Amino acid sequence: MTAPKKLFIKTYGCQMNVYDSERMAEALGGQGYVSTEVAEEADMILLNTCHIREKAAEKVYSELGRLKPLKALNPDLRIGVAGCVAQAEGAEIMRRQPAVDLVVGPQSYHRLPQMEARVRAGQTALDTDFPEEDKFEVLKTRPKAKRAPAAFLTVQEGCDKFCAFCVVPYTRGAEVSRPVERILTEARDLVARGVREITLLGQNVNAYHGAGPDGSDHSLAQLIWALNEIDGLERIRFTTSHPNDMTDELIEAHRDCAKLMPYLHLPVQSGADRILKRMNRGHTVQEYLRLVERIRAARPDLILSSDFIVGFPEETEAEFQATLDLVEEVTFGYAYSFKYSTRPGTPAAERAQVDPVAADDRLQRLQALITRQQQAVQLSMVGRDLSVLVEKPGREAGQMVGKSEYLHAVHIEDCDAAVGDLVPVRITEAKRNSLAATKR
Ligand code: 5AD
Ligand code: SF4
Repeated sequence: MTAPKKLFIKTYGCQMNVYDSERMAEALGGQGYVSTEVAEEADMILLNTCHIREKAAEKVYSELGRLKPLKALNPDLRIGVAGCVAQAEGAEIMRRQPAVDLVVGPQSYHRLPQMEARVRAGQTALDTDFPEEDKFEVLKTRPKAKRAPAAFLTVQEGCDKFCAFCVVPYTRGAEVSRPVERILTEARDLVARGVREITLLGQNVNAYHGAGPDGSDHSLAQLIWALNEIDGLERIRFTTSHPNDMTDELIEAHRDCAKLMPYLHLPVQSGADRILKRMNRGHTVQEYLRLVERIRAARPDLILSSDFIVGFPEETEAEFQATLDLVEEVTFGYAYSFKYSTRPGTPAAERAQVDPVAADDRLQRLQALITRQQQAVQLSMVGRDLSVLVEKPGREAGQMVGKSEYLHAVHIEDCDAAVGDLVPVRITEAKRNSLAATKR
């Protein structure tokens, strides 16, 4: 018997990439690969890249430059680039870094086994198509191994919104929703393998409109209600949402569906109407605030999270102030803020850029405010009775760690629960990045 080949995947960026990396590992598992955490011992290194951050492609090229010498140590080593930088750069990657054997886009990685055979035979392989066939169907078989209690499940991919700053519509393509039945089958399989919480993933997940069992389109709310029926599945979340696709029935699901967690990531990006318009977001500040009111009326304890971009082209100090005002008004439990950076090919890249020093200063001020709110929300949990999905043992003896329904990390002291248990707790203390609790 020959020793199994070793696969090292480095994942950048969003949760969908984490999910995709798992599926790639499974696809190559069929080719005799086992995963390793050590790049130096790998026979195949895949960088599953993200294009959303600044200079993403440049960072991939420098990482490839660092990996190249490993080929001298192991002549069997093949190096591949997957994900959104692969999609955006295509064949250019192999031109700029000849050590790369394989380039595969996010919509064609089900073809990895054939591509792997090509590169083993000493050729290169490039696939950045948007193929007709459904990659998830081709990859259907998953090993029956036990899974961690919280899992991701991609239900929708791509985006038709074309926000002026964003590359996603170009790298992930148009919106495509997976059919309901396939998602339910995958969810049941995950539950059979120990999963208790599923986060439904999509670049614009609340625009989900997959074919239902009767052939008609189902909404995300309908999908959630169908998942709600699965015994053993205790928690449902979804991310990322666009405000304009937050339908009444989805808001009602937050009120009525007990398994749907009281946490919602609903990016607003800016608190100034002119900027929102220039961003092509399709909604105003008032519309967002009104939406938040309706969501909170349906589920008063829901914790909101958001993304912000500061220093978007032409943003004035007053417009940035409006963003701070919006944050003050809404209160977010979590928020991610970014300094605008240009993405070649997107409309905003052509516009007058904000002075980088001013943009840095705005980012710091926004992050300071967000951190204060985040800590206040954490602190407000002290004394409350929550439930925790146990994910792993903690660092100290007797401790178990998991997540509350609000997605806060919680350490439970003197806890005899097992991984995968939902434990009723009382929160005793808010620490820097987590909560402490005792079992009720
Ligand atoms: N510059 C800065 N931030 C960006 N984002 C997306 N594109 C850009 C860009 N060009 C942020 C948005 C989005 C999050 C995932 O990344 O806030 O919601
Ligand atoms: Fe990008 Fe989200 Fe806008 Fe789509 S809705 S273009 S993914 S920021």
